[in-house]
Amino acid sequence: MPDTLNKKWQNVWITGGSTGIGRELVSLMDGHVAHIAVSARSAEKLSELADAGKTVAAYPLDVSDKAAVKTCVTDIEDAAGPIDLAVLNAGAWKLMDVAEMDLAAVRTGIEVNYMGVMYALDALLPGMLARGKGHIAIVASVAGYRGLPRSIAYGPTKAALINLAEILRTELGPRGITISVVNPGFVDTPMTRDNPFPMPGIIPAPVAARALLKGLVRERYEIVFPLGFVLLMKFLRILPNAVYFWLVRTIMMRGLDRGA
Ligand SMILES: NC(=O)c1ccc[n+]([C@@H]2O[C@H](COP(=O)([O-])OP(=O)(O)OC[C@H]3O[C@@H](n4cnc5c(N)ncnc54)[C@H](OP(=O)(O)O)[C@@H]3O)[C@@H](O)[C@H]2O)c1
Repeated sequence: MPDTLNKKWQNVWITGGSTGIGRELVSLMDGHVAHIAVSARSAEKLSELADAGKTVAAYPLDVSDKAAVKTCVTDIEDAAGPIDLAVLNAGAWKLMDVAEMDLAAVRTGIEVNYMGVMYALDALLPGMLARGKGHIAIVASVAGYRGLPRSIAYGPTKAALINLAEILRTELGPRGITISVVNPGFVDTPMTRDNPFPMPGIIPAPVAARALLKGLVRERYEIVFPLGFVLLMKFLRILPNAVYFWLVRTIMMRGLDRGA
C-alpha cells in the first residue's frame, strides 16, 4: 500500500502527530509521501520525528489557537504546495465524574477537540474549494455514539464531530472534497494509558494507524477500528433508551467503579 501513497497525496498535514495514533500514521507514511507536515504542541517530539524521518517536517502548533492554525496552514502550503490530505487528529481526554465537574477541562475538550477542527477547516477550506479537491479526515470516537459515563469533557465533543462530518460530507462532497470521520474504539496510546477501567478490545497504536491509513486510501467515509468493539458500540446506538441506560447502570458503571 505505501507505494501507492505518493500517487494519491503530495502534501499531508497530520495534527496530534507527536504521540499515539498520529505519530504511528506519520511513521507509516514517511518516505511514501513527498511532504508530511506534523503538528502538536510538543516541539521537541516533532523535531525528533522530523530528524528521524525522510519526508517529515515539524510544525509545532496549539490547535486551539485560531490565528496560529491559520498561520500554520499558510506555512505548510508555502513550503510544499496545497495540502491534499489533512488528518485532524489532535485530541484531549479527561475522565470526569459529573459531580466533580472541572469546567476548565470541559472547555479544553471543546477548544481542542471541536474548535481545533473548526479552526483547521476555516484555514483549509478556501483553498480546497477553489481547487475543487482535497481530503479532510476528522478523528472523532465511538465515545460520540452515545453518552458514556465519566465522559462529560470528551464524549459531547466527539458527538459534535460526528455530526459535523455529516454536514461537511453533504455540502462538500459535491464540490470535490472528500470527508472522512474516524471513530476508533480503544487504542493503546498515552491518552488511554492511565485509564483506570477495563478497555475491551484495545489494540496497539501501530495496528490502529494501519487501519486508519487503509481507510484513507480507500476514501472511506467512516473509518473504524477495531471492528468487533466498534460493532458493539454501534449496536448500543440503536438500542432503546431504557435498555441502554439499564446496560450502562449494570455493566459500564460497575466496570468504572471497580477501576476507580
Ligand atoms: N486512544 C484511544 O483509545 C482513542 C479512542 C477514540 C478516539 N481517539 C482519538 O484519537 C486521536 C489521537 O489520540 P491518541 O489516542 O493517539 O492520543 P495521544 O497519544 O494522547 O495523542 C493526542 C495528540 O494530540 C495532541 N494534542 C493535544 N492537545 C493539543 C493541542 N491543544 N494542540 C495540538 N495538539 C494537541 C498531542 O500532542 P501534544 O500534547 O504534544 O500537543 C498528541 O499528539 C484523538 O483525537 C483521540 O480523541 C483515541
